[in-house]
Amino acid sequence: MRGVTRRRPRRRAPSPGRGGARARSTRRAHRACRFIVEETDRLDGLISSLLAFARPTALALRPVPVAQVLTRAEGVAREVVAPRGATLVRREAGTLDLVVTADPELLAQLLLGLVTNAAEAVAPGGTIELRARRDDGHVLLAVADDGPGVPPADRERVFEPFFTTKERGTGLGLAMAERIARAHGGALRVVPGAGAGPDGRGACFELALPRAGAAPALGAGAEAAAA
Ligand SMILES: Nc1ncnc2c1ncn2[C@@H]1O[C@H](COP(=O)(O)OP(=O)(O)OP(=O)(O)O)[C@@H](O)[C@H]1O
Ligand SMILES: [Mg+2]
Repeated sequence: MRGVTRRRPRRRAPSPGRGGARARSTRRAHRACRFIVEETDRLDGLISSLLAFARPTALALRPVPVAQVLTRAEGVAREVVAPRGATLVRREAGTLDLVVTADPELLAQLLLGLVTNAAEAVAPGGTIELRARRDDGHVLLAVADDGPGVPPADRERVFEPFFTTKERGTGLGLAMAERIARAHGGALRVVPGAGAGPDGRGACFELALPRAGAAPALGAGAEAAAA
């Protein structure tokens, strides 16, 4: 057509900053996506913990050899401990032939919670011990570490629901662990001076479980299970 000049779309001259700006915004988008995924995972974990905590503890009890409990706990613990560069040590004293009446799933959950806390507490290259020993009528399973330990003022409070000193903690791990211990007719406590560091420094969380066919339970298992 006469008189009408068709404008060719002008190509923009490449500016040195343009590619960089696009790359920057892509990086920002990736960061935002990662943040969303991480936060969603965290909320998912929080909701699962809250639901597990709100639900009564239903036990599927059966006789379980202590060695089996330890081997399973050790396997899972290694996965938690290894990425932190910590060392896991297993110590057993006179428990090889012992049996506890327990729910192996819940027991594994409890021990995993303790090992996770220990792994979060120790410095890189730290030590975490998984211990088993016996006393009259009980099997004593413990997770000890050479981290900073639990301050005396917090030794009872750590078992309270929502007590946490971590920026992103729920504070439900030990509350749940303590409940599982009681549901088994056992008990969970902090043992001062029994950590895995020099002179017993660090934290030690000890679970006392009644031995199968041995002394009466520490607590009322059936009632605790319904609590
Ligand atoms: N091995 C440990 N050494 C030192 N302090 C500990 C240890 N284990 C637990 N604690 C203290 O007990 C608190 C409660 O632990 P708990 O497992 O209930 O919750 P959390 O670890 O803070 O949060 P979450 O389990 O949801 O990640 C921790 O915040 C920490 O202050
Ligand atoms: Mg925890």
